[in-house]
Amino acid sequence: EMIDGIRTFWITAQPGRHEFRPGQSTSTWGFDGSYGGPTVRAAVGERVAVEVTNDLDEATSAHWHGMHLPPDMDGGPHQMIEPGDTWRAEWLIDQAPCTLWYHPHPHGATERHVYRGLTGLFYLDPAPGSAEEAVHEQLPHTYGVDDIPVVIGDKSFSDGGELVIDDGGNEVGLLGDVVTVNGVVGPLLPVRTERVRLRLLNASTARTYSLGLPGRTVTLVATDGGLVREPVALEQVRLSPGERAEVVVQLEPGEEVMLHSFEPDLGNVVVPFAVGANDAFDVLRIVAGSELAPSEDVPGELTSFGLDAASATVRREFRLSDREINGAEMDMARIDETVEVGTTEIWTVINDDLSPHNFHVHDVQFEVLSVGGSPPPPELRGHKDTVYLEPGRAVELIMRFEDYADPQWPYMYHCHLLRHEDEGLMGQFVVV
Ligand code: C2O
Ligand code: CU
Repeated sequence: EMIDGIRTFWITAQPGRHEFRPGQSTSTWGFDGSYGGPTVRAAVGERVAVEVTNDLDEATSAHWHGMHLPPDMDGGPHQMIEPGDTWRAEWLIDQAPCTLWYHPHPHGATERHVYRGLTGLFYLDPAPGSAEEAVHEQLPHTYGVDDIPVVIGDKSFSDGGELVIDDGGNEVGLLGDVVTVNGVVGPLLPVRTERVRLRLLNASTARTYSLGLPGRTVTLVATDGGLVREPVALEQVRLSPGERAEVVVQLEPGEEVMLHSFEPDLGNVVVPFAVGANDAFDVLRIVAGSELAPSEDVPGELTSFGLDAASATVRREFRLSDREINGAEMDMARIDETVEVGTTEIWTVINDDLSPHNFHVHDVQFEVLSVGGSPPPPELRGHKDTVYLEPGRAVELIMRFEDYADPQWPYMYHCHLLRHEDEGLMGQFVVV
């Protein structure tokens, strides 16, 4: 709804009961429902406001993952919403059109809040009349018809069908043995067009997927922060927790294909089976109708962008080990890094452990300059806000801190394996 020129949304975090399988319900949490959340949409250039009410019996927050916005609107651990309260965030959509998401960020409890179901998508649509809009309209773009949200979360259930929240001592956190899409076990997607765009979000708290269609490729058109420069045919797309990818799938009339998660290549992990590297899943059954409406060809060029490494004036290094970054656990009262507004920086991030981590930076979309000293693979050449860290390897990220100087309120960077984040693998920076 538009109020005084501001596109305004109201969402409520609430407890409920949800059926992942028909006839079998479990207690869950959701935004405006028992599980998941509404897809929020706004266009680049619009002012938006979201009023978030907390009807849970504990404090939570609503963080706009991947959004460029002022730090006090970010919904991180410094913007907690007490039970019964409403928090209003308002900002201007000022970044490339893309698929973002929102989820709670209470320090020490994020894994549990996300796992119970507090997760929604936040689409940034292209500005009317922009070049990106023309591309977007050539891609499948009818919500729920040929432009499909695919929010993936792994769960484990007790014998009685209740969600298992605490599964103890796994190195990466909670690894469920049941994969759900949009809150459904064993989902089926009927398709009536020649092409379908899947907006893939790994909303799992710990598990990394490697998604693809057996025996054929998918066409990658966008990563976390927007369109890639040109479409890329991929056999598999690896997504660690928090990462997104948009892929276009082409179908023949009457055929049935299974979006599958293959055993993910997690790099040189010391105990592969314990971190999910040996797990494979059927994720989404896609069934094409006997007649398919024509879809346009995917354009050969999608967008252009690029930060020049020579323009970076500051370098920083972040070493992740156990639950510490550069030897320190998260401290809400400590600012770890101070960034000057208007600078372009290169951050080198290193996983010093023999198990998986990843790295997410608030406020910015970055570009990956290198992975293990080599140029990034095609799927990492788009705008990103979260990147997988193979053990022992460094990634170099370039990012620009354009505006929103505010010495009062920090942004976060952290591992998006949420138990790691909860246990301290997080730091804070201010832009001044
Ligand atoms: Cu998706 Cu700091 O989080
Ligand atoms: Cu981690």
